[in-house]
Amino acid sequence: MTITLNVNGKNVQVDVQPNETLLDVLRNKLYITGPKEGCGNGECGACTILYNGKVVNSCLVLALEADGAEILTIEGLTKDGRLHPIQEAFIEENAFQCGFCTPGFVISTKALLDRNPNPSNEDIIEALAGNLCRCTGYQTILKAVKRAAEKLGVEK
Ligand code: FES
Ligand code: FES
Repeated sequence: MTITLNVNGKNVQVDVQPNETLLDVLRNKLYITGPKEGCGNGECGACTILYNGKVVNSCLVLALEADGAEILTIEGLTKDGRLHPIQEAFIEENAFQCGFCTPGFVISTKALLDRNPNPSNEDIIEALAGNLCRCTGYQTILKAVKRAAEKLGVEK
Protein backbone atom coordinates (compact mmCIF):
# COMPACT_ATOMS: atom_id res chain seq x y z
CA MET A 1 0.00 0.00 0.00
CA THR A 2 1.14 3.54 -0.70
CA ILE A 3 0.99 5.98 2.19
CA THR A 4 1.54 9.73 2.33
CA LEU A 5 3.57 11.30 5.10
CA ASN A 6 4.61 14.84 5.81
CA VAL A 7 8.18 14.44 6.98
CA ASN A 8 10.05 17.51 8.17
CA GLY A 9 7.72 19.75 6.18
CA LYS A 10 7.77 17.78 2.93
CA ASN A 11 5.01 15.53 1.62
CA VAL A 12 6.27 12.14 0.52
CA GLN A 13 4.59 9.02 -0.78
CA VAL A 14 6.09 5.65 -0.03
CA ASP A 15 5.13 2.01 -0.59
CA VAL A 16 5.02 0.06 2.66
CA GLN A 17 4.49 -3.53 3.72
CA PRO A 18 1.86 -4.42 6.34
CA ASN A 19 4.50 -5.43 8.90
CA GLU A 20 6.93 -2.54 8.40
CA THR A 21 7.43 -0.06 11.21
CA LEU A 22 7.50 3.67 10.70
CA LEU A 23 11.10 3.62 11.94
CA ASP A 24 12.10 1.15 9.22
CA VAL A 25 10.35 3.17 6.53
CA LEU A 26 11.97 6.42 7.67
CA ARG A 27 15.44 4.88 7.80
CA ASN A 28 15.42 2.36 4.97
CA LYS A 29 13.06 3.86 2.42
CA LEU A 30 13.24 7.61 3.04
CA TYR A 31 16.90 7.56 4.21
CA ILE A 32 16.11 9.68 7.25
CA THR A 33 18.58 8.10 9.65
CA GLY A 34 18.38 10.47 12.64
CA PRO A 35 15.93 8.18 14.45
CA LYS A 36 17.93 5.12 15.53
CA GLU A 37 16.95 1.54 16.26
CA GLY A 38 18.13 0.60 19.73
CA CYS A 39 15.83 -1.88 21.40
CA GLY A 40 13.12 -2.07 18.74
CA ASN A 41 10.41 -2.52 21.37
CA GLY A 42 9.67 0.84 22.95
CA GLU A 43 12.20 0.76 25.80
CA CYS A 44 15.06 3.07 24.83
CA GLY A 45 13.73 6.13 22.98
CA ALA A 46 16.50 6.09 20.35
CA CYS A 47 13.80 6.12 17.66
CA THR A 48 11.89 9.11 19.11
CA ILE A 49 10.10 11.38 16.66
CA LEU A 50 7.32 13.93 16.91
CA TYR A 51 4.20 12.37 15.38
CA ASN A 52 1.41 14.88 14.87
CA GLY A 53 3.19 16.94 17.52
CA LYS A 54 3.45 14.15 20.10
CA VAL A 55 6.54 12.27 21.29
CA VAL A 56 6.36 8.76 19.88
CA ASN A 57 8.65 5.76 19.62
CA SER A 58 8.65 5.18 15.88
CA CYS A 59 9.63 1.53 16.34
CA LEU A 60 6.18 0.92 17.83
CA VAL A 61 4.16 2.46 14.99
CA LEU A 62 3.19 0.46 11.92
CA ALA A 63 3.92 2.50 8.83
CA LEU A 64 0.43 1.76 7.51
CA GLU A 65 -1.10 3.42 10.57
CA ALA A 66 0.93 6.56 9.90
CA ASP A 67 -0.80 7.40 6.61
CA GLY A 68 -1.40 11.17 6.61
CA ALA A 69 0.77 11.85 9.68
CA GLU A 70 2.99 14.85 10.21
CA ILE A 71 6.43 13.76 11.37
CA LEU A 72 9.37 15.68 12.73
CA THR A 73 12.78 14.07 13.10
CA ILE A 74 16.03 15.66 14.19
CA GLU A 75 16.81 16.39 10.54
CA GLY A 76 13.85 18.77 10.48
CA LEU A 77 15.28 20.97 13.23
CA THR A 78 18.15 22.24 11.13
CA LYS A 79 17.15 25.28 9.08
CA ASP A 80 19.20 26.67 6.19
CA GLY A 81 22.21 24.70 7.37
CA ARG A 82 21.98 26.20 10.87
CA LEU A 83 21.68 23.95 13.88
CA HIS A 84 18.68 24.40 16.13
CA PRO A 85 19.48 26.00 19.53
CA ILE A 86 18.76 22.64 21.20
CA GLN A 87 21.36 20.96 19.00
CA GLU A 88 23.83 23.78 19.76
CA ALA A 89 23.20 23.39 23.49
CA PHE A 90 23.92 19.65 23.37
CA ILE A 91 27.21 20.36 21.61
CA GLU A 92 28.17 23.20 23.97
CA GLU A 93 27.54 21.00 27.03
CA ASN A 94 29.20 17.92 25.46
CA ALA A 95 25.95 16.12 26.17
CA PHE A 96 26.81 12.96 24.27
CA GLN A 97 29.49 10.31 24.08
CA CYS A 98 28.68 7.79 21.32
CA GLY A 99 25.73 9.98 20.26
CA PHE A 100 23.41 7.07 19.51
CA CYS A 101 20.72 8.32 21.88
CA THR A 102 21.14 12.01 21.04
CA PRO A 103 18.56 12.45 18.25
CA GLY A 104 15.90 10.97 20.52
CA PHE A 105 16.89 13.19 23.45
CA VAL A 106 16.91 16.27 21.22
CA ILE A 107 13.41 15.52 19.90
CA SER A 108 12.04 14.87 23.40
CA THR A 109 13.66 18.13 24.52
CA LYS A 110 11.98 19.99 21.67
CA ALA A 111 8.59 18.65 22.75
CA LEU A 112 9.28 19.62 26.37
CA LEU A 113 10.44 23.16 25.62
CA ASP A 114 7.56 23.75 23.19
CA ARG A 115 5.10 23.17 26.03
CA ASN A 116 7.22 24.36 28.95
CA PRO A 117 9.88 26.94 28.06
CA ASN A 118 11.30 27.08 31.59
CA PRO A 119 11.34 23.52 32.98
CA SER A 120 12.62 22.55 36.41
CA ASN A 121 15.08 19.68 36.82
CA GLU A 122 12.15 17.47 37.79
CA ASP A 123 10.21 18.49 34.68
CA ILE A 124 13.21 17.62 32.51
CA ILE A 125 13.79 14.26 34.18
CA GLU A 126 10.13 13.38 33.77
CA ALA A 127 9.98 14.50 30.13
CA LEU A 128 13.12 12.55 29.21
CA ALA A 129 12.28 9.43 31.22
CA GLY A 130 11.54 7.51 28.02
CA ASN A 131 15.00 8.15 26.62
CA LEU A 132 17.90 6.01 27.80
CA CYS A 133 21.59 6.82 27.40
CA ARG A 134 23.73 3.73 27.67
CA CYS A 135 26.79 5.98 27.99
CA THR A 136 25.05 7.39 31.10
CA GLY A 137 25.62 11.05 30.22
CA TYR A 138 22.56 12.19 32.11
CA GLN A 139 24.15 15.10 34.00
CA THR A 140 25.40 16.79 30.85
CA ILE A 141 22.08 16.12 29.11
CA LEU A 142 20.30 17.87 31.97
CA LYS A 143 22.64 20.84 31.62
CA ALA A 144 22.11 20.89 27.86
CA VAL A 145 18.33 21.07 28.23
CA LYS A 146 18.71 23.97 30.69
CA ARG A 147 21.07 25.72 28.30
CA ALA A 148 18.68 25.12 25.39
CA ALA A 149 15.84 26.67 27.40
CA GLU A 150 18.02 29.72 28.06
CA LYS A 151 19.03 30.03 24.42
CA LEU A 152 15.44 29.75 23.22
CA GLY A 153 14.33 32.28 25.81
CA VAL A 154 16.95 34.71 24.58
CA GLU A 155 15.91 34.19 20.95
CA LYS A 156 12.27 35.04 21.63
S1 FES B 1 14.23 1.57 19.24
FE1 FES B 1 12.28 2.41 19.64
S2 FES B 1 12.22 2.60 21.79
FE2 FES B 1 14.11 1.61 21.41
S1 FES C 1 25.69 9.09 24.29
FE1 FES C 1 25.92 6.95 23.95
S2 FES C 1 23.96 6.17 24.33
FE2 FES C 1 23.82 8.20 24.94
